[in-house]
Amino acid sequence: MRLEMERKEEDDEYDGLLPQMTGSVSPPQHSRHAYYTVLVFLLLSLSALFGITKPINSLDSELAVVWKDEDDWLSETSQPVQVFLMAGQSNMVGFGSVQHLHSLIEKGNYTHLVDENDQWRVRSRVRVVLPSRQVESLTIGLGFNESFIGPELGFGWTISEALPKHNILIIKTAWDGYSLAVNFRPPSAGLGNYTNFRHKPFIDEKYGAAYREMMSIVNHSLAALDEPYEIKGFVWFQGWADQSPQKNSEYKTNLVHLIQDIRSALDVPDLCFVIGECGQYRGKPKDQENLQRVRDAQKAVTELFPNTSQLVDARAFTHENRTEHYNTGFHYHGHADTYYDIGVAFGDAMLELMGV
Ligand SMILES: *[C@@H]1O[C@H](CO)[C@@H](O)[C@H](O)[C@H]1NC(C)=O
Ligand SMILES: *[C@@H]1O[C@H](CO)[C@@H](O)[C@H](O)[C@H]1NC(C)=O
Ligand SMILES: *[C@@H]1O[C@H](CO)[C@@H](O)[C@H](O)[C@H]1NC(C)=O
Ligand SMILES: *[C@@H]1O[C@H](CO)[C@@H](O)[C@H](O)[C@H]1NC(C)=O
Ligand SMILES: *[C@@H]1O[C@H](CO)[C@@H](O)[C@H](O)[C@H]1NC(C)=O
Ligand SMILES: *[C@@H]1O[C@H](CO)[C@@H](O)[C@H](O)[C@H]1NC(C)=O
Repeated sequence: MRLEMERKEEDDEYDGLLPQMTGSVSPPQHSRHAYYTVLVFLLLSLSALFGITKPINSLDSELAVVWKDEDDWLSETSQPVQVFLMAGQSNMVGFGSVQHLHSLIEKGNYTHLVDENDQWRVRSRVRVVLPSRQVESLTIGLGFNESFIGPELGFGWTISEALPKHNILIIKTAWDGYSLAVNFRPPSAGLGNYTNFRHKPFIDEKYGAAYREMMSIVNHSLAALDEPYEIKGFVWFQGWADQSPQKNSEYKTNLVHLIQDIRSALDVPDLCFVIGECGQYRGKPKDQENLQRVRDAQKAVTELFPNTSQLVDARAFTHENRTEHYNTGFHYHGHADTYYDIGVAFGDAMLELMGV
């Protein structure tokens, strides 16, 4: 009841861009190479119109890439669109450097992400909704900005490889530094006691504004889909912002409420949850202990939902001792393989939960 009222409120406030589920670019099914030049021009002009791809000039010129559309959104399918939600804070937003990804490809890894002409592949069968951006087809540049990837790339690639007959919609709602205790606070957790806390709730002392924004974006995205769909899973990659003792002490109950509230709001009682464990330790031993409490809580929650949730430990994919860094130390040093591999692990965990 309360959720419904809050959604109504959000509906009025919502000013994001609505998904565009029609008007995708279809490359010719035959003789792609012969039409390549034409296609490039077509894509560039249509991309501006429809916001399906990003303009070439937003990339570092040294990459010299052109967007290429392939594996299009299936127009003749009886299969429902498979919908996945991805939410969290900056690591879900994504800080994997595209420049680094390109250098890994030059060394012979992740070559499936480019075609034989060194063009980034665009997988249009997978669409990605991002806050305050147009709906995009799955490709690089859907992280913090066009220069970054997030876990959506490896996740979307993995899921779409395993479900070749389905269209896939990923709704990613993530914001840098947002906590579960305040920003994503789910309705059934109650208001909490953060009025005087240094991390201020950001809209008129209303709690869980990011929770409501997330649900509003999900709601609008689903409403804009004029095809049958199934909501299959939720990926949560968050935790850093809840390290403080006040917040980590209630992380477990807040996360249980989050799962329950999302399941009931979307009316998917067994919705699968993949929870990414923060994989980076920084700072003093005391801070590490605090972060460990968040991780312990995440693990405890997955144990409460044994058949419908899985934990993915991001530590397995980090390269702390590598000397090449693409940022100042946070966000896995901007390592693109870390972000891609975490996304793949999220996808594998999700497929296992789905029994695929
Ligand atoms: C690149 O791939 C090779 C094997 O093909 C592997 O040995 C190496 O560890 C990979 N490097 C990275 C950075 O992933
Ligand atoms: C993306 O963000 C980084 C870091 O703030 C900035 O240096 C870069 O210019 C931005 N790139 C684009 C394409 O906006
Ligand atoms: C809530 O915050 C108030 C004001 O800072 C404080 O006096 C009170 O002890 C807090 N309650 C709890 C349960 O933390
Ligand atoms: C979106 O929210 C409205 C109002 O609460 C509700 O009637 C509608 O069913 C929701 N749509 C979807 C797709 O969840
Ligand atoms: C999980 O699945 C197992 C095996 O199918 C079943 O025995 C068990 O009751 C299930 N647990 C829950 C909590 O649903
Ligand atoms: C990274 O370096 C530290 C300090 O030299 C070392 O203890 C650790 O084992 C190294 N980690 C890996 C994964 O090689």
